[in-house]
Amino acid sequence: MSKKLKIETEIEECTWDELSEVEQTLIDRAKSISKDAYAPYSKFHVGAALLLNSGEILQSSNQENVSFPVGVCAERLLLGFAGANFPNSPVKKMAIVAQRSGEEEWASVSPCGLCRQTISETEMRFNQSIELLILKPDGHVIKVPGVASILPFKFDDLNG
Ligand code: THU
Repeated sequence: MSKKLKIETEIEECTWDELSEVEQTLIDRAKSISKDAYAPYSKFHVGAALLLNSGEILQSSNQENVSFPVGVCAERLLLGFAGANFPNSPVKKMAIVAQRSGEEEWASVSPCGLCRQTISETEMRFNQSIELLILKPDGHVIKVPGVASILPFKFDDLNG
């Protein structure tokens, strides 16, 4: 007899005022870096900003390529930069925002599968969950406590 396994996940939605000062700063940094995204093909400008345990904040945008698969998402570029330049500093939180060219409103966004797997790797590397803060078009912020909430049943053990 087959057995059904149910995976439950919980994410939280906050208002701007419910965010801490540093969380608001992360969203603001993600918004400003998104303005310089290199996204001539999709015209979808993404900004990501992360907080290291050390208190340092780093940010990146997406960088596309005429050969589409070569383009890199804001989150993956940012985590790669953090891992290379701050190899001893775990990542605490990461804010993600997006905007379409020519639009005032912030767009709905959510990390793609490759980025989720990359977030998972950074969590494993430092043995610390990364809280994601995702801006919604209505100005509210989705708080995801760690990648497991949006990447259930993930691949994280070569020998398991
Ligand atoms: N993109 C990101 O940078 N982050 C996301 O979370 C979603 C998608 C980028 C990839 C591509 O440059 C453009 O947005 C459209 O998919």
